[in-house]
Amino acid sequence: MKLSKFGENFSGPSGIVELMDDLGSALNENPEMLFMGGGNPGRIPDVEQVFKARLEQVLADPDQLHSLMGVYQSPQGDRGFREQIAGLLKQQFGWNLSARNIAVSNGSQSAFFVLYNMFAGDMPDGSHRSIHLPLAPEYIGYRDIGLTDNLFTATRPEIELLEDNLFKYHVDFSRLNIGQQTGALCVSRPTNPTGNVLTDSEIEHLDSIAVQQDIPFILDGAYGLPFPGIIFNDAKPHWSANTILVLSLSKLGLPGVRTGIIVASEEIIQAYTRVNTIVSLACGNLGPALATELVASGEILDLSREKIAPFYRQRAEQTLVWLRRALGDLPYRIHRPEGAIFLWLWFEGLPITSQELYERLKARGVLVVPGQNFFPGITDNWRHKQECIRVSYAQDAAVVEAGVKIIAEEVARAYAE
Ligand SMILES: Cc1ncc(COP(=O)(O)O)c(C=O)c1O
Repeated sequence: MKLSKFGENFSGPSGIVELMDDLGSALNENPEMLFMGGGNPGRIPDVEQVFKARLEQVLADPDQLHSLMGVYQSPQGDRGFREQIAGLLKQQFGWNLSARNIAVSNGSQSAFFVLYNMFAGDMPDGSHRSIHLPLAPEYIGYRDIGLTDNLFTATRPEIELLEDNLFKYHVDFSRLNIGQQTGALCVSRPTNPTGNVLTDSEIEHLDSIAVQQDIPFILDGAYGLPFPGIIFNDAKPHWSANTILVLSLSKLGLPGVRTGIIVASEEIIQAYTRVNTIVSLACGNLGPALATELVASGEILDLSREKIAPFYRQRAEQTLVWLRRALGDLPYRIHRPEGAIFLWLWFEGLPITSQELYERLKARGVLVVPGQNFFPGITDNWRHKQECIRVSYAQDAAVVEAGVKIIAEEVARAYAE
């Protein structure tokens, strides 16, 4: 088969696809695998019950059912849903928004595909622009999203060593190299894979740098504020006329529903919507059908605060206890868990690569994600890239506890070699 450059790039081997295939086939071969690898949210019965009840209401009403299944939605997304989202954000945080500032996407991943390629790549004047990640490690799902090569540049973080084997990454503003070649800044907050929550002042500083450069500041809130709010400190929600805030219903417990939400200036929303018309024709109806009332009543915030964040906070704390007990005196560090659904483990001076550790853990029936995949835009041979793994704590507690023991055994074996 003769493929275009696009066909070759997107259908050929790429980091994320290989990793997902590997995780998938490992699970197929051994369904008993202790799965600490994926981004699936945990199961929270009270939250599942809310969505189930709402779905039953829709199913019981022929008109609502027809709206769910029998009509194309507009490419900008359901108007009522957009109005409620804008209303909630305006009422809660005073952000100057209307439905014209909101677009819906079929999952936030597809929104990132459109947005990143809108702001970076080959420019009309022949120059090339990149999306700059002011702090990597960053989300693996960005890595292969570019329609042109070298879509990402990134800055190495400052590492603050903390007590009790913890550490925290900070944006190293002294190294941030932003200029004409930068098309947008982007951070996920909380960050996948590290659970880092960039501080309010880091966020404000980054936005002000983006304003000075006249480029957007893209804030990936897949785990963040205001919903699903998987944040364990008192970080503030952020939006400004220069910010593109991308939210998602996935980590509320609805990854199968594929609903992302973009909050941005009207100009950007209009441009995004035109692209989305070409790429998707329409947005799915299920997310808005399930969530509009929860947004209108504000219940989505209560669920986030009262059910979702406490579930993950408890899981994070428990997993930390298990890890500390199992890793004992080994030279390990854990990124301070501030949010999201993962712990990021750093084994300084590990004699094997994170890929090798991943393979060994897989052979022992434990799936994690090797850290070197989370450095889009960092092209040098920074040893740190090979010293980290990402561990999800969203699945059953018994799975996490058993997995932690095996991780510690394999890390001890590696250091002993
Ligand atoms: C940081 C981050 N952003 C975006 C996404 C994409 O999520 P979705 O397409 O389900 O909204 C994910 C998924 O895991 C993520 O971890």
